[in-house]
Amino acid sequence: MRITIVLMIAGTIAAVPTAQAQDIHRGRQLALGVCAVCHAVLASQARSPVADAPSFEAVAATPGMTAAALNVWLTAQDHPTMPNIVLSQTDVQDVSAYILNLRE
Ligand code: HEC
Repeated sequence: MRITIVLMIAGTIAAVPTAQAQDIHRGRQLALGVCAVCHAVLASQARSPVADAPSFEAVAATPGMTAAALNVWLTAQDHPTMPNIVLSQTDVQDVSAYILNLRE
């Protein structure tokens, strides 16, 4: 599964910038504006608009999911939309912080 590969890559990157100044609220706005066309981005949403796209709650609940793993995923070319969506480093940190915040 792809996420396994992502986690393996993440493990090899020691110095992924971690979240100091991430802004969960801004990440939520970004998720709603950019990601919600395909993903269920809110905790209350059961289904993603695009069946293949996991809900952000499910992403957050993935064992071993970390900001570093999300950082790799969101900056890799693997994501189906990444040629179209350009996220700054701050965007990636904020949206990752939002996703991880969904974890209960
Ligand atoms: C055009 C539709 C679309 C948009 C927009 C989109 N995604 Fe995705 N995303 C997908 C699909 C489809 C997958 C599943 C791809 C796969 O597993 O190969 C996916 C997978 C993911 C994964 C990996 C989940 C996992 O556990 O494997 C993450 C994280 C993710 N998306 C985050 C985001 C974020 C954050 C945004 C907004 C910045 C976003 N996506 C925007 C369609 C989209």
